[in-house]
Amino acid sequence: MSSENKLHAYVRGEIVPLDQAYLHVSDLSIQRGYGIFDFLKIIDGQPLFMEDYLARFYTSARLMHLPVPLSDEVLKATIFRLVELNEMPMAGMKIILTGGYSDSGYDIGEPSLLLIQQPLSLPGQAMLERGLKVITHSYIREIPEVKTINYTMGIRLVNKIKENGADDVLYHTGGVVTELPRCNFFIVKRDGTVVTPVEGILHGITRKHVLEIAGKKYKAVEGTVTLDDIRQAREAFLTSTTKRILPVVQVDDVVIGNGKPGAVTLALLQDLIKLEEESRK
Ligand SMILES: Cc1ncc(COP(=O)(O)O)c(C=O)c1O
Repeated sequence: MSSENKLHAYVRGEIVPLDQAYLHVSDLSIQRGYGIFDFLKIIDGQPLFMEDYLARFYTSARLMHLPVPLSDEVLKATIFRLVELNEMPMAGMKIILTGGYSDSGYDIGEPSLLLIQQPLSLPGQAMLERGLKVITHSYIREIPEVKTINYTMGIRLVNKIKENGADDVLYHTGGVVTELPRCNFFIVKRDGTVVTPVEGILHGITRKHVLEIAGKKYKAVEGTVTLDDIRQAREAFLTSTTKRILPVVQVDDVVIGNGKPGAVTLALLQDLIKLEEESRK
């Protein structure tokens, strides 16, 4: 991997060394927290499922009235140029689009597009064997279908998560479960059906792939998941680009199944890893 000072980023039309990658204080992301992003994984120089992530990025941009300053073709070429320059075997690429420099500090300016590549490590074996404990919190993201840069609630809850000896937090409203701050959520019911919430969530790319692979072996559906369903569930797990699939073995005081990572969860993880490998061939 190249050393930190050799890394480059793309900022508002230019590729610059990472230590010179700045935005002006008038940017609407700084002034009002207005912006969107997406995040894709790059393994051995190959972006995984790039079309899926870019499609979601364009949808987020459209829903937030932010024109993307580069054509699809030039955006992809710039991503590849950075990947080539940064030479990181395992990385994440953040594509950020903000409200841009704003004289009024409120009106959208010319959006700022940023591309930042960062080293990525996937969860280790210990975490997979242990499984995660999560607490719950009543909250719904403001515009759930958009991948905004607003993670205020998640970040505010970090201390509470630690105080409870937990790993993360699961959002719900009135007992109807949605997602975690950075992950989607699944349960495996007693009858073996794999279910993931459909309302009030970001449509995760990993969630989409897991639904596809789960549908080949099991009954897999999008639907309503309640805290009561979790109490009855045989297994639970979360999904995200950086975490792939991680077992959830406890939600608040409720131990899921036998309190150990479940067989369906671990089988799906192997299938997901295979799907990632096939996508790179
Ligand atoms: C709110 C939210 N939900 C779910 C996810 C998981 O999405 P993906 O699988 O595309 O990484 C993320 C990813 O960061 C997220 O921010």
